Amino acid sequence: MKQIGIGLAGFGTVGMGVFRHLSRNRNLLSQRLGFELWVRRIAVLDPNKSRSVDTSAQPVTGNWEDLIVDPGVQIIVELMGGIEEPLRLITRAIEAGKTVVTGNKALLAKHGKELFDLATAKQVPIFFEAAVAGGIPIIKAVRESFIGNHIKSVHGIINGTTNYILTRMTEAGLDYAHALGEAQAQGYAESDPTLDVNGWDAAHKAIILASLAYGTWICPSKVFVEGIEKVTARDIGFAKMLGYRIKLLGIIKADDDGSRSIEVRVHPTLIPEKHVLASVNGVFNALCVNGDVVGETLFYGRGAGQDPTASAVIADLAEAAHALDSKRRDFGFMPHGLYGDCKPLDEILCQYYLRIPVDDKPGVLAQVAGVLGALNIGISSMIQPESDGQSAELILMLHDATHAQVREAIARITALPSVEGAPTLLRVEHFTP
Ligand code: HSE
Repeated sequence: MKQIGIGLAGFGTVGMGVFRHLSRNRNLLSQRLGFELWVRRIAVLDPNKSRSVDTSAQPVTGNWEDLIVDPGVQIIVELMGGIEEPLRLITRAIEAGKTVVTGNKALLAKHGKELFDLATAKQVPIFFEAAVAGGIPIIKAVRESFIGNHIKSVHGIINGTTNYILTRMTEAGLDYAHALGEAQAQGYAESDPTLDVNGWDAAHKAIILASLAYGTWICPSKVFVEGIEKVTARDIGFAKMLGYRIKLLGIIKADDDGSRSIEVRVHPTLIPEKHVLASVNGVFNALCVNGDVVGETLFYGRGAGQDPTASAVIADLAEAAHALDSKRRDFGFMPHGLYGDCKPLDEILCQYYLRIPVDDKPGVLAQVAGVLGALNIGISSMIQPESDGQSAELILMLHDATHAQVREAIARITALPSVEGAPTLLRVEHFTP
């Protein structure tokens, strides 16, 4: 049977998983594909390190250049991690005419435009299903299954670590630090979980999805990103009383007016408890994609881990192998000019949750309401837990307002003499069809 030669760069958790499952399901894959996916060479940082997987049939090298110059390697799989070294490897691979498979979301978010420009110029495709939501085939869905749709919106829980933390805060009442510690002890969070909790891991994925959906590579500086570090069990409790759950949500939308301007944001978000995303718990990921032809769709699964991510890489390998023999127009990203720019944060319209610590004195509520009214911001509901006679908390749900309006409102409210500290602001999302 014909063999397709693969050069595997990076042999960590995912690389090993790809290698193991390619061997384990070799027969199934060969039957389905009509050729064999054969790992010819593996590049690692330290070739002498002992490993739990038997690689005696494959030369292991400490230099990824060996994969590029091997004439029997047709597809390079980049699973090294980091940004600069993978960028060099992928650039070299494309220049050498070798198809690329990568799961590197941070690299694509930062350098996607230049890499896809190069891929298109050299007519060498890049596949990257593993970069977003692990085992969920969302890249294929957005790029191929929904090719006949304008994507109206994507709402995604696309970081498992933060979803685990928020789930534990919601269900067990843990505070943020304890829930994070638990996620680390369970092996879900990295020892340095910065990119998870500050929202940027999810933002990298949102950038990739939005770029595919709207045909312009989104610049990271145009994305509003807020992490979950400041979410408190107290806010989760108030959200519950109001009928909401708090999730770190990636939100991607395009206006359906003539401007077709785009919104890409990632932030802790109150979502109605009855919405399907509210019941996506633990480390699971889920995405709702709304297309103008297909309507609403839902994808659910594991967004990380050795096996789900290996499943995505193997699917890319199969497609990459087929692509070796076929003429393509799309080399991973197909730019077009049908959508407008990313909206500046100040122009983005949404609803808000506002918690304000105040002195428990007559007239304070009226002062706060006065500030909001003067800025034309409506209140949709309000709760105030029974106070101790000294201090109180006002929890307000606000109607649609721009970020600029709300920023001004918070500045004015914070300056009121009866306001005891900085208000807490969270965004609210309702899912209009
Ligand atoms: N750390 C990510 C998560 C997976 O927790 O979902 C890799 O993007």
